[in-house]
Amino acid sequence: MKIIEIKTDTKLSKILIGEKIANLKQYLPPVKTVIVTDKTVSAHYHSFFNGFNVVEIGEGEENKTLETLQYIFSRFVELEVDRSTFIVAFGGGIVCDVAGFAASVFMRGLRFGFVSTTLLSQVDASVGGKNGVNFHRYKNMIGVFNQPEFVICDSDVLKTLERKEFIAGFAEIVKAAVIKDYKLFQYLEGHWQQALDLDEEVIGHLVYESVLIKSKVVEADEREKGERRLLNFGHTFAHSFEKLTDLLHGEAVSIGMVLAAKLSEKLGFLSRKEYQRIYTLLGNFGLPVDISLDIKKVLSAMKQDKKREGDSIHLVLIKQIGEAFSYKTKLNKLEEIIHDLHSDIG
Ligand SMILES: NC(=O)c1ccc[n+]([C@@H]2O[C@H](COP(=O)([O-])OP(=O)(O)OC[C@H]3O[C@@H](n4cnc5c(N)ncnc54)[C@H](O)[C@@H]3O)[C@@H](O)[C@H]2O)c1
Ligand SMILES: [Zn+2]
Repeated sequence: MKIIEIKTDTKLSKILIGEKIANLKQYLPPVKTVIVTDKTVSAHYHSFFNGFNVVEIGEGEENKTLETLQYIFSRFVELEVDRSTFIVAFGGGIVCDVAGFAASVFMRGLRFGFVSTTLLSQVDASVGGKNGVNFHRYKNMIGVFNQPEFVICDSDVLKTLERKEFIAGFAEIVKAAVIKDYKLFQYLEGHWQQALDLDEEVIGHLVYESVLIKSKVVEADEREKGERRLLNFGHTFAHSFEKLTDLLHGEAVSIGMVLAAKLSEKLGFLSRKEYQRIYTLLGNFGLPVDISLDIKKVLSAMKQDKKREGDSIHLVLIKQIGEAFSYKTKLNKLEEIIHDLHSDIG
């Protein structure tokens, strides 16, 4: 097992890569513990929930809502949760985002940890302390920054994931490499097939390197004043695709990254060759790299992104693989560029 520690002003969070879920109890204080999970995860892993109270929430982005929070709070009241209770979010990014938020605000904050069960949440969602829910059409609009005490990342649980969900996780790994780590990108180019075959060593390496990249960014800028924005590479586009289609988060991020990379090339920052390497790598993972959508609808959805500032929006672009930067542009300028872009992907 490898441990990555994230130290922020208020907390120390330990990411336990390669730890087994069977060892969960070792990390719990001797107090009442409530597990928050979803139905699919519960169906696979209920044998690990023995002796705990369990709260099950609905699945999918449509359940990442204030209503689900209310449901969790009602269950906490029924289960007589008090200030000393420990909460474990046991699931993918949605369970961790929602339960982490519930634990952060119930009775002004309870102690909590994560058992992260999807590739996407192991490499990204459960690391960094962003917890929250969607509000109306706005993604992740309501939430807090608060680090879990521990995150268990066990590669065995990835074996029960649906193939599509597993593949979606690679989008965030490619993202980490593209914005920060050329060597990791080269490693992905050489090992994507083993990664897809769930080779334990390769997956362990990829999870470790991705978490390391994210943990450094989060330590430097927990509250997203600057550096942390780079983690949104591909996401401003992705959030609008998620609103308009039923693409998974990772799938939407993949297409968003292709667009952001294409835009970087168009504006003269990125070479055509590097753009093509990104496009090819995402395709090798079986991730979607193009989408046909009404541009007006995409832009209107982008206007609802919380990174918007008046009539401008912050995008993350790249100079070369491994080096990203924040780029502010007017929404109407973006409309023109996207028009051109679309015919030019590939
Ligand atoms: N907080 C952050 O910093 C951050 C970062 C990236 C993404 N996110 C959020 O994460 C969410 C996406 O997370 P996700 O991709 O993990 O999706 P998810 O939580 O919806 O899980 C995907 C599906 O897989 C099932 N599942 C989970 N683990 C399983 C397992 N081991 N075996 C079988 N089935 C399993 C779930 O029941 C669900 O149906 C999005 O809402 C996104 O916004 C948050
Ligand atoms: Zn993401």
